[in-house]
Amino acid sequence: MKLILFGAPGAGKGTQAETLSKELRIPAISTGNILREAIQNKTPIGLEAKRFMDNGQLVPDDVVIGIVEERVARDDCRNGYILDGVPRTIAQAEALERFGVAIDNVVSIEIEDSVIEARMSGRRVCGRCGASYHITENPPKIENVCDVCGGALVARADDKPETVRERLVVYHRLTEPLKDFYKSRGKLLTVDGNRPIRTVHNEILAALGKSV
Ligand code: AP5
Ligand code: MG
Repeated sequence: MKLILFGAPGAGKGTQAETLSKELRIPAISTGNILREAIQNKTPIGLEAKRFMDNGQLVPDDVVIGIVEERVARDDCRNGYILDGVPRTIAQAEALERFGVAIDNVVSIEIEDSVIEARMSGRRVCGRCGASYHITENPPKIENVCDVCGGALVARADDKPETVRERLVVYHRLTEPLKDFYKSRGKLLTVDGNRPIRTVHNEILAALGKSV
């Protein structure tokens, strides 16, 4: 299965991708996590991406397309994968089609802008593996320690309220039009993201025709 998890910043793409990845036994590929790792490792891509990410802007398409093309060609992707946060522009979606990637479904997690800021201020992510938590909605078992890998949890640099607002502007302008792109191809499914994490998960499985 090749699945895209689509939605605004904070919609819950990363949270749902982690659980779905375990259940469906296919990797979740988050361009945001890959780029943050590149920043941490101070690679040339990381240094270029940081300027855009710190300001809530999209990283240039050619950089992201290169990352995804390389990642989906790896061995662990042969039975499918979940794309989290990519494609984010029409150019990226067209590039996937050019590589011959046949997407089965696009699940759009729908959420109001007004809910997003509160979610972001409570978010903590693992500095090592990128797993996403929330201080009240989805706390780790041990405070500030990642359940998955034991890494330290930190607030994300782009979760400041003014950067979140900019990310939302960018989402509506450049990314949301992709819903029509995939709707016209008969691939778009929508779920209500403003429900508890487990409920959203079950809705996604139901939308995909999987038993809950
Ligand atoms: P990226 O890391 O992809 O960020 P994003 O799309 O802005 O989305 P987020 O990761 O902020 O939110 P999410 O939907 O994953 O929500 P989460 O599950 O964490 O991208 C960051 C930056 O990298 C971009 O701004 C851009 O610069 C660059 N970039 C990345 N990909 C790119 C691309 N393809 N092209 C160009 N540039 C790119 O949940 C949020 C919080 O809410 C968490 O605390 C979580 O615990 C909580 N939560 C989740 N679900 C629920 C729920 N149902 N109820 C209550 N709380 C919930
Ligand atoms: Mg995410």
